[in-house]
Amino acid sequence: MNFLVCGGAGFIGSAFIRNFFQNHNNSKITNLDFLTIGSNLENLKNLENKNYQFIKDDIRNEEKINSLVKEADVVVNFAAESHVDRSIANPKPFIETNILGTYSILEAIRKHDKMFIHVSTDEIYGDAEGKSSFDEDSQINPSNPYAATKAAADHLVASYYITYGIKCITTRCTNNFGPYQFPEKLMPKTIIRSIKNLKVPLYGNGQQVRSWIHVYDHVQAIESLISKGKSGQVYNITAYNEITNKTIVEKILDILGKSYDLIEYVKDRPGHDKRYSIDSSKIQKEIGWKPRCQFDDALEETVNWYLENQQWWEPLVDENTLHPQPWTLDWE
Ligand SMILES: NC(=O)c1ccc[n+]([C@@H]2O[C@H](COP(=O)([O-])OP(=O)(O)OC[C@H]3O[C@@H](n4cnc5c(N)ncnc54)[C@H](O)[C@@H]3O)[C@@H](O)[C@H]2O)c1
Repeated sequence: MNFLVCGGAGFIGSAFIRNFFQNHNNSKITNLDFLTIGSNLENLKNLENKNYQFIKDDIRNEEKINSLVKEADVVVNFAAESHVDRSIANPKPFIETNILGTYSILEAIRKHDKMFIHVSTDEIYGDAEGKSSFDEDSQINPSNPYAATKAAADHLVASYYITYGIKCITTRCTNNFGPYQFPEKLMPKTIIRSIKNLKVPLYGNGQQVRSWIHVYDHVQAIESLISKGKSGQVYNITAYNEITNKTIVEKILDILGKSYDLIEYVKDRPGHDKRYSIDSSKIQKEIGWKPRCQFDDALEETVNWYLENQQWWEPLVDENTLHPQPWTLDWE
């Protein structure tokens, strides 16, 4: 099988590629990535595989996407502007990549009748505070520009299924953690600032609840859906680890043997959802996938990975990536 993976130089896309070649050595992967913020070819540097090729390009390049989709059997799209704080400071790149980029892939998918795996997020459901967990039929109610652009893409994919009958699956996963995550996201930022004995910022009162899943459980779920998922369906993916941001930060400080005095409460992110919570019994019942990682063990392994791989993150760290309130920055 030939795979076109878009955004494979990012955190989750690179985990997908590393994991995929362990299980399917004879498949081919073309990784198209525009190498924007969050990407790093170092994530794939140990990949020595004749069935792998990298192309630097933009998913909005319709001609290029068309020619690559034509050669592929399955297209998996991880390419996205992915950081909520940046979307608050400057939504435009999110609209361009997350909506127009998805459109560009969809056009090629319908022309060549290929399978499309659209990687979306639980954030499209919006705030679950005071509500039960969202399932795949719950209303879409995004709160921030990042989530709104992902929700728009989900609607586009659904409309192409209904209108043109394309083959597609949409996945909506919770917060990922693990190795190779760009330092501006909560877990790596907390780990790196703690290692450096810098104050660790917590937005608002730190009581926001996120549901955490190890990135290998997420990519394994996507792999299962490629072989067993039903076209036109949406699948939620969660490992049911609902934890407050404050508890996450405290757990990391405990693992590193640092004092909670490092915690600094800062002004809350605008439009900050209090809780994300989804139900993924559909993928468990229909596909048989279930998460393998035990949260506390996987968190400790992750912290140790950042301790042991400082040469990976040091070149990526500057004042902006570690900023306590990034939405106040003037991102290009
Ligand atoms: N990180 C999470 O917790 C999480 C949870 C659920 C869903 N998701 C979704 O998973 C996907 C991957 O997330 P991630 O955390 O790996 O993000 P990431 O920012 O680490 O990676 C995104 C990749 O997309 C590439 N990219 C950006 N714009 C591009 C463009 N126009 N053309 C080609 N490539 C482009 C970047 O260079 C980068 O390599 C995203 O769609 C995100 O919405 C992420």
